[in-house]
Amino acid sequence: MAHDISRQFIQGLPKAELHLHVEGTLEPELKLKLAQRNHIDIGFDDVESIRNTYNFSDLPSFLDVYYEGMKTLVTEQDFYDLAWEYLLKAQENSVRHVEMFFDPQAHASRGVDIEDVLYGLLRACSDARALGVDAELIMCFLRDFSAESARLTMEAVSEFADHLIGVGLDSDEHNNPPLKFFNQFAHARELGLHVTAHADIDQKDSIEHIKQLLEVIDVERIDHGTNIVEDPDLVELAAKHGVGLTSCPISNTFCGNDTKQNEVKDLLNRGVQICINSDDPAYFGGYICDNYEVLAQSGVFSREDIIELAKNSFRMSWISNERKTLYLQEIDAYVAHWDETHA
Ligand code: HPA
Ligand code: ZN
Repeated sequence: MAHDISRQFIQGLPKAELHLHVEGTLEPELKLKLAQRNHIDIGFDDVESIRNTYNFSDLPSFLDVYYEGMKTLVTEQDFYDLAWEYLLKAQENSVRHVEMFFDPQAHASRGVDIEDVLYGLLRACSDARALGVDAELIMCFLRDFSAESARLTMEAVSEFADHLIGVGLDSDEHNNPPLKFFNQFAHARELGLHVTAHADIDQKDSIEHIKQLLEVIDVERIDHGTNIVEDPDLVELAAKHGVGLTSCPISNTFCGNDTKQNEVKDLLNRGVQICINSDDPAYFGGYICDNYEVLAQSGVFSREDIIELAKNSFRMSWISNERKTLYLQEIDAYVAHWDETHA
């Protein structure tokens, strides 16, 4: 029993979450509450009917439902409530550190004041310290919007740059290569921000996009990105440069054809840093522990692999080396205590 990978073991294992869209944590209950509070007609007045709309088969069909849900987010308090509900879940899942994505263009384009978005999210991040969860924000550019729109967004938030940890790239990847945003990534780096970008699962130009991210944009992480296994030279490059991948097993079953467990294991074996995350947990029906559990139950991973995935989440995070060391020690202490008490 000492070396099992039970749900209970996973639940208490300290982790960082690095691929989490805060707008993707909008549970049907909160969507209904916000719609009523803001007098927005969403076409349904019960939770089950809303839950039934959380149903998709690929990235575009997911994005349709995801952007529809955002209509209910209007005020500073709405953004606070959204983030706070996730942060409570993070605490339950033993997430010690989270770097959360948000999509300012998806709100500004609906007439929402960008300051309301930022103040609401930042207030929740600040309050999360009382939960023992350290929370940071990554601003994403929507890749299906223009480069000019991304430039204007960067300009609008630049006075808040000190309150952000990095920039990312999300939304529909089809015919929207990373190079389209070369200048915005360069600008973000000049402002002292870290840089990551999505390379979604099984896209038309997955390998070309991953190549651009590694060779031209020079990202520090890639979100999803497991198609890299198709090109051994790129795998070697990612390993050599310490570019980590943030994988999301349950999300992969919706936007791809399986959890990509074999790709994750393969990359782990080949020395690429990779960690486990929940992506859009309200929509895909699983928070971070559910994602670890799916992998643990696949039979592909040893207990050491699962512990290594949790350690990678801190190694890949954008915190100081001193704090990384403390979190890695916390994992070792947790495992040692578990083994002593479950011998
Ligand atoms: N990929 C692209 N865009 C997204 C995602 C994702 O995983 N989640 C929310 N927006
Ligand atoms: Zn994502």
